[in-house]
Amino acid sequence: MTRRNFIHAGAALTAAAHVSKASPGDKIAVGVIGTGARAQELMQSILQRPQDAEIVGVVDAYKGRVERALDRTGGRAKAYPDYHELLAQKSIDAVVVATPDHWHRRIILDAIAAGKDVYSEKPMTYRCSEGVEIIQAARTAGRIVQVGSQGVSSDSDRKAKDLILSGKLGKVTMIRASYNRNTASGAWIYPIPPDASPKTVNWEMFLGTAPKRPFSLERFFRWRCYEDYSGGIATDLFVHLCTTIHYLMDAKMPSAVMAMGELYRWKESRDVPDTINALLQYPEGFAVSLGSSFNNQFSSEAGFQVLGTEGTLTITGGGISFYPENVREDNRWIVESWPKALEDAYYQDPKVIAAEVQQRPAAPVQHFKDEGPEPTLAHFGHFFESIRTRKPYWEDAVAGHHAASCAHLINLSAKQKRLVEWDFGKDDIRA
Ligand SMILES: NC(=O)c1ccc[n+]([C@@H]2O[C@H](COP(=O)([O-])OP(=O)(O)OC[C@H]3O[C@@H](n4cnc5c(N)ncnc54)[C@H](O)[C@@H]3O)[C@@H](O)[C@H]2O)c1
Repeated sequence: MTRRNFIHAGAALTAAAHVSKASPGDKIAVGVIGTGARAQELMQSILQRPQDAEIVGVVDAYKGRVERALDRTGGRAKAYPDYHELLAQKSIDAVVVATPDHWHRRIILDAIAAGKDVYSEKPMTYRCSEGVEIIQAARTAGRIVQVGSQGVSSDSDRKAKDLILSGKLGKVTMIRASYNRNTASGAWIYPIPPDASPKTVNWEMFLGTAPKRPFSLERFFRWRCYEDYSGGIATDLFVHLCTTIHYLMDAKMPSAVMAMGELYRWKESRDVPDTINALLQYPEGFAVSLGSSFNNQFSSEAGFQVLGTEGTLTITGGGISFYPENVREDNRWIVESWPKALEDAYYQDPKVIAAEVQQRPAAPVQHFKDEGPEPTLAHFGHFFESIRTRKPYWEDAVAGHHAASCAHLINLSAKQKRLVEWDFGKDDIRA
């Protein structure tokens, strides 16, 4: 068999393997790898879709979370000692990857190699170069990879996209988006479970290929605070903002990024910034300004302002609002400096009268409530449908790679204090 034929045969087998899941009655068997805080939420969403899927396997590096995960499935799932054993189960169709970020690439690639479809939490990658590797692996094996920035499955994001596409905002040239917090919990200083110890926590399983360090409950339970496992604010929060912006604007990647980050306050507990401001320039013809502070939450926790020549669209948790620009030309202060006769003549011109003198009714502000299902529930709806139809949802490995790469560009720019660029040919950071 030639390599080409072999790949074709493989693809045919893959398709055959999934015929059984094509009809709605067949439940998709799901394994959850990393059953921490987010995974427990994800499991609750999956449990709300009993007609689609069933959680049959779980694995985690802390006993307490395995216990809670088994609890949530009513004891129906099996606990595995490590993720390789879970992946070896032929009966498992798909996996959820919700480990700390430094593990995502390895587990996604192993899951693809084991023939599973994958729902990976964001950020899809810990390093930029991992993105192309995952995209290629998924394509070659014909696997679905969906990434977990669930906001794009919200009713609000869909309505916002429709409004932007309809031209209601005019030409959009700038988007501001932010994530602000002012609590220890918001700054990822989470409580550590009282029973956590080397007996209940598998330190080596958590570390993986991260630098060897002595056992640390702070690092294990608050891993976002440390570069060894996370890209901090950019990969944790900005990745959501960039995913939504790419979805709304049909945009791929910024061509250039400049960012500054600083650690002002939570110094004793982290090595990543608690404040970041970033500017992203898109070849599609608009710029983005992202900001995040962990030291003030005056503006809402997360939000967007999409600024167009005809109006502004804001997106917050509860829904979206459209604020028309209602602009009117006004040249009085200029024309009043002309000779009086010229000023008088200026205001006789019908075009000037129409543009500057006549009153026009102001267009009203419009509010649209989010009426859809909870975004994570909707996001899993897309994932399960993709598994059955073999057609990926919008937030596939490519979208996941690009959103995560914005975060990597931001971190690189902030660290090196320089403008960094995207190489569209390589689909990676310009060296
Ligand atoms: N989409 C969202 O809104 C959202 C929200 C929160 C977190 N997340 C993402 O979810 C992921 C998990 O975040 P979290 O807040 O749940 O963190 P967490 O620390 O609560 O959970 C991670 C779990 O992974 C386990 N783990 C570590 N290494 C493992 C390994 N090799 N095999 C199996 N399990 C392992 C840990 O024991 C831990 O319980 C992150 O990638 C994060 O960015 C997404």
